[in-house]
Amino acid sequence: MKKVISLTVLACSLGLASSVSAKTCDIEINSDDQMRFDQTELTVGADCSKVNLTLNHTGSMAKNVMGHNWVLTQTDDLQSVATAGMATGLDNHYLPADQSKVIAATDVIGGGESTSITFDVSALSKDVDYSFFCSFPGHWGIMKGKFIIE
Ligand code: CO
Repeated sequence: MKKVISLTVLACSLGLASSVSAKTCDIEINSDDQMRFDQTELTVGADCSKVNLTLNHTGSMAKNVMGHNWVLTQTDDLQSVATAGMATGLDNHYLPADQSKVIAATDVIGGGESTSITFDVSALSKDVDYSFFCSFPGHWGIMKGKFIIE
């Protein structure tokens, strides 16, 4: 799964190498043992075609106890994705089997760990309401925020 995504990203990068419009923007967000993200709003410039997101877990608790991931959906889909993801377990990073409503998602990590993903935002609209959240069971009520395209 990961390999396929990487190859796709590589292919896209090569394809866009001659284009001046491709721009990857970096976002970094922290999570902790208090079940919190350190930001409730992430903003992406309209000129960003991709986002490279890094999630850090600054706590020390294990991922089966206080695991965190970073999942992006339309705000209207947050609850259904979080609910469907709850049942799939840690091995599946608490993501639903049907990921059609998942725009991007990292692995679940535990204390002291970090993970990164790069995803395409060129198709996202400033007129759509997007949210990010942690899909670990019981976390998304608190661990969520807005993802805004400027
Ligand atoms: Co969490």
